[in-house]
This record gives sequence, C-alpha cells and structure tokens, in this order.
Amino acid sequence: HTARFTLDPAFAVSPVDGRIFGSFVEHLGRCVYQGIYEPGHASADEAGLRTDVLDLVRELGVTAIRYPGGNFVSGYKWEDSVGPREDRPRRLDLAWKSTESNQFGLSEFIDFVRKVGGTPMMAVNLGTRGVAEAIELQEYANHPGGTALSDLRAEHGDAAPFDIRLWCLGNEMDGPWQTGHKTAEEYGRLAAETARAMRQIDPDVELVACGSSSQGMATFAAWESTVLEHSYDLVDHISLHAYYYPTDGDRDSFLASAVDTESFIENVVATCDHVGARLKSKKRINLSFDEWNVWYQDGSGPTLSDEGRGADWAEAPRLLEDNYSVTDAVVVGSLLIALLRHADRVKVACQAQLVNVIAPIATVPDGPAWRQTIFYPFAQASKYGRGTVLDVRPQSPTHETKRFGTVDLLHATAVRDEETGAVSVFAVNRSQDQALPLEVALAGLDLTEVVEHSVLADADPDARNTADQPDRVTPHAGAGTTLVDGTLRATLEPLSWNLIRLG
Ligand code: AHR
Repeated sequence: HTARFTLDPAFAVSPVDGRIFGSFVEHLGRCVYQGIYEPGHASADEAGLRTDVLDLVRELGVTAIRYPGGNFVSGYKWEDSVGPREDRPRRLDLAWKSTESNQFGLSEFIDFVRKVGGTPMMAVNLGTRGVAEAIELQEYANHPGGTALSDLRAEHGDAAPFDIRLWCLGNEMDGPWQTGHKTAEEYGRLAAETARAMRQIDPDVELVACGSSSQGMATFAAWESTVLEHSYDLVDHISLHAYYYPTDGDRDSFLASAVDTESFIENVVATCDHVGARLKSKKRINLSFDEWNVWYQDGSGPTLSDEGRGADWAEAPRLLEDNYSVTDAVVVGSLLIALLRHADRVKVACQAQLVNVIAPIATVPDGPAWRQTIFYPFAQASKYGRGTVLDVRPQSPTHETKRFGTVDLLHATAVRDEETGAVSVFAVNRSQDQALPLEVALAGLDLTEVVEHSVLADADPDARNTADQPDRVTPHAGAGTTLVDGTLRATLEPLSWNLIRLG
C-alpha cells in the first residue's frame, strides 16, 4: 500500500507564475479596519498600518493582492476613497450591510502593497457602474500627470502613478446576490466594452473577466462561453471562485475537495479553448483563481467571532472569522497543490482573504496578530513552490468518498528550482487513520539529500490556534525520510500536509 511516482525534469508542466500565491483584501468585516489598518495600535506605522500584520504578510509570502472586493466592489465609488480623510463620505455597504468610513482607500492600499512587496490587483465596479468610472479610476491611478484626474492624484499626495497592471472587470457578476447582477450576455458586452476602453488608455493592462462563482452555479460553463464570445480578444484571464467546507461531518469528502478544484480548472480550460477554437484564435485565455479557501459558509465551523450578516450597518463588524483546524490546513495545502498542478493555465490565484475574514492571519484589536493553521501550507508553498512544476502522476492507494467516489489517498506535486536544481515535493495524505508510505523515483535529477521534511498534522484533527494559544499547531519535522540511490522514501502521517525539500 505504497504511493509512488517518478520525477523527471524532461516532463514538466510549466514554470510557476508567482502570482498564484496571491491574496485578497476586501472591505468586509475586520479585514481592512483592525486588520491591516488600525491607527491607534501600538505597532501602527505613520500610515496607520499594523507593522505586526505587515511582518506576517511578508512571512506568508503573498504576491498579487486583490482589492477592494469581492461583493463590496459592486457598490464601490472609488472617488470616496481618495483625498483628505476628513472629507471622505461614510456610505452604506450593501454587500455586507455595514457602514464604510472610507478612512482606508486606494492610496493607503497601494502603500500597503508596496510595504509588503506585493502586486496590486484592482477590481472595478461593474455592478452599479460601468465603462466611464472604470477608465476614470484607471486614469487617476496610472496616468503620469497633466490631466484632471492624474493631477488630482498628485494633489492628494501621490505624485508617482500607482502603476496598477492587473485589473478585475467586476466581481461574481453571475451571482444573483451581486449588486447589479447581470446575465452572461449583459456582462459579456459590458466586460468587452470596459476592456476595450481600458486598453485605449493602455493596451498592455492585464484584464480578468468574471467567470463563475463556483462550479456548482446553474449557469456554469455556459456563462464562461458567452462572456468569452464577447470578450475573447480583449481579456487575458477568466476568474474562478471556490470555497470548501465539510457537510454532514463528512471529513473524507472534505479532504478530497481538490478533486472539485482540479475538475473546475480543467472544465474552465476546456470551455476557454472551445471558444478559442470556434473563434479560430491562436490566443489562449489563462485562469485567475482569484477567490479560494476553506470557508464554513453554512456557519457550521468554529468562528473566532461572527456578528452575522445584517449587523445593522455597523462599522467593521466581526464577520466570517472562521477559526481553522489542522484538517482545514491540510485541505488548504491540497488546494495549493491543485493550483500548482495546473500552473500551465492558472497564472493568478488569490486566497480569500488575508486578515481576519476567512484568513490565515488573525488580529486582536489593540492586541497581537497571530497565525491560523492555514498560514503554514501557504507560507511553505509560496517560499518553496517557485520554479518549474514537474509532471506528477501518482499511483496511489485509494478510498471511497461520498461526494467524489474513489479518490487517491495521495495528492502531490513537485516544483524544481531551475537555478539550484533543488526540488520541493508537496504532498497530502487524505487518510484520516492510515500512515501512507511514499516512494519517489528521481530520474535525471542530481539530488543527493533530504534537506527538510516538514509536516503539519496532529493527533487531534480539530486542533486549532487561538489568540491565547497561537502556537498550538505548528509544523514539525517528519521522521525517517531518506534519499538513497535516486529514491526518496517517506512516510506521510495520517491527515497530513508535507513539504519535502531535496537538494
Ligand atoms: O470572500 C468573501 C466573498 O465571497 C466575496 O466578497 C465574494 O466575491 C464571494 O462570494
């Protein structure tokens, strides 16, 4: 009952686009306020950013950061969020039934992104707004100067353009919950015309059209097809969103969530390429998996606190503050493996979200910031998952799951650093009670030692970190891992995430 695969650099999937280790900052709950921004906090810098959070974001290794939503963006008036703070209006946020103070806005976001060494991924509002407001925002953000809006930015204290290269054309426009929800025809036309206008300002911007909010949407695939028929030549990526949580306590199916992620990716690729074929186009549309995570959407999982939706227009209420377990972290690791395995088409991905709201980082107002369990697989994948993904085709023992049928116990990928030749193997054992022996044959790889085997697993699969016990769950060293005569041998603990580094 050993799982096996072969690694050979002659069989590679694709170089990794570092932007797949992206994240997401939405004006939702305490992601911005009391999350990344808390002016009165002991660690706050001159801009009101919590430096303890900045440190954790850097450690997490986040690249592209999507902003300002999410559902929030479909009511967003960017003009409210710039200029002197005392003049910024307070507005109703229809998406989260909150009050938005606009004390944190576009300039503050760019400052944040620069301080963490990330790339901004800005969404425009195609819910309540359209082409005009999108190009006005683009002019304000990116034009060097000499026009009303670019000079206004300079007057607001930002002489240098923000140089935002990556833009989302709205958010989840297929979802009936979205303010300004549209049919695929309506959205496809609007996305195309917005893209055309944005390219009139700058032909080189990278644009993401909205795909489906999940593979389960009734309009899935037909939506992508129609949207791309209108916008194929004008956009670069189509978005995917997916959240997972266990239903009816079915942990085996939950641990196999990435089966859905991989089929979702493959179905979107097929749909994109089908439209490309019909249009006789050589161009390929890439995928932006710009919302993914574990999220107990039915409220069944432990939360640090959740005041519930409809909190009567409160300011920065505690919303969606899921408290993640070891099991959740193993699923997050498996979702990262799914993204890496499809690095040939997935060029951007954002874990949703970054701080407090379904997030790897949590904060206590006036208190410390700490790492949830899901922090660790993300940080390790971002740090060691750079290079070229090798084609991993495991032969693995299987088990039966209610939701996905027969599923491999092993889920794995491997990334080779082209400069050093070092290889990182990322592997999940989906079995709740069986250790899984792993054998990897190394062909054409000059590797001689196991540099590290790091494991996230626990005797209690529900173990979690909290503000009081922030280090209850941390990675530990794996035992007995060897590399002899070109064969790596390891034992993967039950229900575990593993990073094995070979040098
Ligand atoms: O990330 C939370 C929400 O999930 C986002 O606002 C929305 O886009 C999605 O439905």
